[in-house]
Amino acid sequence: MVLLVQACANAILSAGLTSTMVFADVDQKKVKGEVMDFVHGGAFHHANVKAAEPNYDGSEDSDIIIITAGARQRPGESRLDLVSRNARIFASIIPPLVARSPAALLLVVSNPVDILTAIAARLAGLPRGRVFGSGTYLDSSRLRVDLSTQLGVSPQSIHANILGEHGDSSVAVASVANLAGGRFADAALTPDLWGELHRRVVGAASEVIALKGYTNWGVGAAVGALVGFILRDEKRVVPVSVAAAGAYGIEDDVFLSLPAVLGRGGVERVVRVPLSQTEQEQLRKSAHSLAKVASSVAL
Ligand code: LAC
Repeated sequence: MVLLVQACANAILSAGLTSTMVFADVDQKKVKGEVMDFVHGGAFHHANVKAAEPNYDGSEDSDIIIITAGARQRPGESRLDLVSRNARIFASIIPPLVARSPAALLLVVSNPVDILTAIAARLAGLPRGRVFGSGTYLDSSRLRVDLSTQLGVSPQSIHANILGEHGDSSVAVASVANLAGGRFADAALTPDLWGELHRRVVGAASEVIALKGYTNWGVGAAVGALVGFILRDEKRVVPVSVAAAGAYGIEDDVFLSLPAVLGRGGVERVVRVPLSQTEQEQLRKSAHSLAKVASSVAL
């Protein structure tokens, strides 16, 4: 996961979002090297970068704890296959981190992100909304970038979200997607093309993993953006992995991505957008498949 933490840290430091960053890692030699390397850039990013002790001393009073720890997907392995391996790692790191920063927000990036965010929430015992996962924010970026190429406009001018699981059962929400307020159907975006774009998003991580062995820059950029929304208290509405029961008719007690208001207090609320019946049904199915996996994880 070192490559993932590097990408997240680099995005946050390059954007000048923080004055202090503390790395915690079981590999003390590696973390020493990473910190040294980041410190050397201190004249440019102006941040105090340091390493925590093996027991996490030195991380006290953090505003945001970002969890990238864990084994990563092997080629051909689904995000859900990783779950038991990473759940055990979480049980050893989250309680001591939260004990040292009880007022922190906890942002989970490790995969399978929805399942692990639910596990992190249980282990952290923090109030609802203070623990959430990067979820489908990256998937939504992938979709918007692909759409921007199709439509010849900036991804910034495209509102389109992927909700649900960060994985195979995600839902590409066509009904409320728009370009400057105009429906995509009017921009000649057929349901077939929409389906094809969604399939490409779902397969995107595997495609990169087959080529370079892992993904890190896309998700790092997404995490950097999320941290900025939080620290600037932007109250930006973004799809992140949140406790979903009770929203959109979801009954399962799972975390998955829903449009949420993100600010200094974390996820302040879930926003209700008018999804089609089919999309709501797909979201419930996504919740159901996550609940099945969650129930098979022994901590
Ligand atoms: C990806 C990893 C972060 O989608 O799941 O790139």
